Amino acid sequence: MTSFPFYLDCDTGIDDALALAYLLASPQADVRGIGAVSGNVSAAVGARNTLDLLELAGHAHIPVALGAHDPLAGSFGGGAPWVHGANGIGEVELSMAAAGLAPETAAEMLVRLAQEHPGTLRVLAIGPLTNIAEALRLEPSLPQLVAEITIMGGAALAPGNLTPVAEANIANDPEAAALVLSADWNVTLVPLDVTMTNVLEENHRQELLASSGAVPRALGEMLGYYFRFYEGLFGRACSAMHDPLAAALAVGAVTPAVAPVVHVDVDTTSGPSRGQTVCDLRGLYMDYPEQPGARCRVVLALEGDFAPHLVETLLAYSSAAAASEPVGATVA
Ligand code: RIB
Ligand code: CA
Repeated sequence: MTSFPFYLDCDTGIDDALALAYLLASPQADVRGIGAVSGNVSAAVGARNTLDLLELAGHAHIPVALGAHDPLAGSFGGGAPWVHGANGIGEVELSMAAAGLAPETAAEMLVRLAQEHPGTLRVLAIGPLTNIAEALRLEPSLPQLVAEITIMGGAALAPGNLTPVAEANIANDPEAAALVLSADWNVTLVPLDVTMTNVLEENHRQELLASSGAVPRALGEMLGYYFRFYEGLFGRACSAMHDPLAAALAVGAVTPAVAPVVHVDVDTTSGPSRGQTVCDLRGLYMDYPEQPGARCRVVLALEGDFAPHLVETLLAYSSAAAASEPVGATVA
């Protein structure tokens, strides 16, 4: 199976932790570097969580770079402890990794990796887009160097989750999102329309908790916290799967059922729709005819059920732990 170099940008967070573990266990992905950005937690706490998770998963060699603390305009708002816990990973205590931070910023890491892997690097962004915007400012030809970028963010036809119309990753840095979504590259946008309708249930969490692998068990414990937040929305213990679903789409392991390529704008005004992703979905009435110049594939629905695939992939850590081997592919 072909494996592609990946740069992951995240605000590690419970669903970011799931996405990271999923990506490491996916044979299609060769994670070459990870940048942390403020979102669910500060960039510094997100980087700490990422380092600790990498060590737990047997991938401590993957470099982690500290990214932006503040969005392009304004300052970090303090994260979402009511969703992810004060430490971002549902108050689960992981052993502190021995590895430290990379000697470069997240934006510098992304630019370096794009230059080292011209035309093949895949970018997966599952937090606010500040680091990606900073990388575009550092290297304006970044869109020509990167094969594609997958972004968990936005709400196309669905309501928002941070404001009535805005999703958290976009709302936490609309200026960065506007810059990234107007750049000349192939974008796959994974909005709330599809992440809120693909749900992980309590039986899935129990499967993770029953695993012999330390990674699935830690994720199952974190999900306990996450499920309590989503119980307030869905009325039962379960959760949306924002970031792992974006990871699965980035590696091509799941197939979109409805994913028109359309123009997307981000509202950067200071009014009530600040942070809204304005997706031109008028083609809905005509089965989405081609929009000249559009580069953004907006995933609105999936083929099949994602949760069983996610759980099966994460449970691969059980057999790897038994064999004392890290899970995941590396390409020399
Ligand atoms: O709105 C959901 C997104 O915001 C996810 O990426 C979650 O981790 C938070 O960053
Ligand atoms: Ca995230």
